[in-house]
Amino acid sequence: HQKTTGKVGYRSPSNIALVKYWGKKENQIPANPSISFTLDACATTTFVTYDKLSKTSPDFSFDLFFEGQPKPDFRPKIETFFKRIEQYLPFLKEYHFKIETSNSFPHSSGIASSASGMSALALCLMQLEKELNPNMSGEFLTKKASFLARLGSGSACRSLEGDLVQWGVHENTKESSDLYGVKYPHEVHTVFKKYQDTILLVDKGEKQVSSTIGHDLMHGHPFAEQRFSQAHDNLSKLKKVFKEGDLDTFIKIVESEALTLHAMMMTSHPYFILMKPNTLEIINRIWAFRERSKTHVSFTLDAGANVHVLYPENEKEEVLQFIVDELIAFCQNQQYICDQIGFGARFL
Ligand code: PMV
Repeated sequence: HQKTTGKVGYRSPSNIALVKYWGKKENQIPANPSISFTLDACATTTFVTYDKLSKTSPDFSFDLFFEGQPKPDFRPKIETFFKRIEQYLPFLKEYHFKIETSNSFPHSSGIASSASGMSALALCLMQLEKELNPNMSGEFLTKKASFLARLGSGSACRSLEGDLVQWGVHENTKESSDLYGVKYPHEVHTVFKKYQDTILLVDKGEKQVSSTIGHDLMHGHPFAEQRFSQAHDNLSKLKKVFKEGDLDTFIKIVESEALTLHAMMMTSHPYFILMKPNTLEIINRIWAFRERSKTHVSFTLDAGANVHVLYPENEKEEVLQFIVDELIAFCQNQQYICDQIGFGARFL
């Protein structure tokens, strides 16, 4: 098959980990399994226009546009990604690509776009591969795109499907793999359907420590082995929690995971702190509100100061009122994003 020119597009969501991936081995193999909610509103849309070159180029040939503008600072990331995936997509140097990408969330909001961005790009490249090999199944396309996205940014491999995705080998899940994410195959109670995630933008500044450095600091970390086995245990416990809809245990596991992630940062060498005073203020207020309201509001954190406020859909009205009344005062420019569990990437 000779496909010379065309354009493909995908919209791919971000995701928020419940059991965190923190620490990796060679080739983006996670040190422990993780699981995430796929988000809905926070997403990257990417179009790739491809043109077959008259002869194979010695370097990768691409133009990059972010929200309509050329974006030279993103080029090195894409170069590295292409280098890592070239052996799995041997046609890469036979084409010139125009990559046009945009995010649904505000620019430099402190929301990482690597998961949604890398998964959208991986899907576009797999769509081109499918046009070259029309017999490829949709299932294969998704699995290989997740495999490729992992090589761009580990957590990106959990951004292709919904609504819960597991990445990393775990004894309870025979389908699981260190190489790509899989849709969580076990029973999930209806209370987790449309679970809400309101993201409070506490600090929009550049992270002082990249996740690459953070993962590296788990090598020789005094608590690494304990942490990795804890992640396995938490994933085991969540199986029953998801099945039965046990929100009290869900909250204990998810909040502990978030604080443990940050505890790993605070106890590495060098040590660092990504939370801000307002992160702690928000956490304390969530705890106080949960106590007095009897709702099931909880929080989780990424590798940053922003807080993800999680709650079931049937408590939306009451919790949103609390967020507006008490929490957005602690956000930078009062910014927050209302999101919920989503169902994965969409072909455009
Ligand atoms: O995908 P990376 O390498 O940027 O790592 C992300 C790690 C966390 O977001 C902190 C946790 C996770 O599992 O998503």
